Amino acid sequence: MAAASGLLLGTLRAGDHLVLSDVCYAGMAELGRDTIPGFGIEVTTADFSNLDAVQSAVRPNTRLLWAESPCNPILRLTDIAAVAQIARRAGAALVVDSTLATPVVTRPLALGADWVVHSLTKYLNGHGDALGGVVIGERAGLAKLRQHALIHFGGALSPFNAWLIRRGIHTLSFRMRAHAEGAMAVAAHLESHQRVHRVIYPGLPSHPQYELARRQMTSFSGMLTFQVKGDGAEVARQFACRARVFTCAVSLGKQRSLVFYLPTEDLLRSSFTLSGPALESCRSFAGDGIFRVSVGLEDPYDLCRDLDRILDA
Ligand SMILES: Cc1ncc(COP(=O)(O)O)c(C=O)c1O
Repeated sequence: MAAASGLLLGTLRAGDHLVLSDVCYAGMAELGRDTIPGFGIEVTTADFSNLDAVQSAVRPNTRLLWAESPCNPILRLTDIAAVAQIARRAGAALVVDSTLATPVVTRPLALGADWVVHSLTKYLNGHGDALGGVVIGERAGLAKLRQHALIHFGGALSPFNAWLIRRGIHTLSFRMRAHAEGAMAVAAHLESHQRVHRVIYPGLPSHPQYELARRQMTSFSGMLTFQVKGDGAEVARQFACRARVFTCAVSLGKQRSLVFYLPTEDLLRSSFTLSGPALESCRSFAGDGIFRVSVGLEDPYDLCRDLDRILDA
């Protein structure tokens, strides 16, 4: 978040306008809703899976468009090349938070984005033991940002965290292959389970944007969500009591599989202010509540047996 806020406050001035994805990492959504407007920067949220909605949100003073693909937590995708064109026509820059995809899976700069942001805390480090963030972009712009983000705002990475993250990055491509294989196996298993209402995984043909996923992602990463039939809170309790391989926890992208339950009403109360078609679009991915799963590096067989133990209880 230090990288993200350094980029926002390093590139925007009072009087500028930001178009922010209406569903994104909660910390980012809340920063855009509660903090950024206090600096005199106007913020409009838009459904970045809907190109007309993004186009309509753009104004003459729009300087930045902020997409997240896949977006946390509902795994809706943004057509990065198409949104980059909207940004270019508006004379604005496009930022893509590609944390959930990683550079192994999606290359936003090659698709026309101006800036890419990653939480290094997640897949790039890969072991859940260090915090960090990165902004990627052209050299001159980065030099300016470095001064704001590092010196003025103090968002400096500790040397030990930098060392851990650098060590993690060496195995990124191998880990991403295993995360994607595991996620595909778990997604297919869940999709065939009688207790499961719906699975959202970009690698499944049932994902509403499967064609875009195939075009834009070289594999499908390790994040999936699922909805259960009946009481999600009760299934969440079963996870807490019975899981042996999964850990019930937030965060994502580490070697261990993580799961947690997010009731949609809670999300709408705490982080996302949505109405009309934007609310319908969010609900079409999230239903009444999702289990967000970060598939780790365990044997998919063990993960599926763990899920059966919980869902069949
Ligand atoms: C997509 C995305 N971007 C940014 C962040 C913020 O990362 P950090 O916790 O490293 O500040 C998160 C955290 O979950 C995230 O999921």
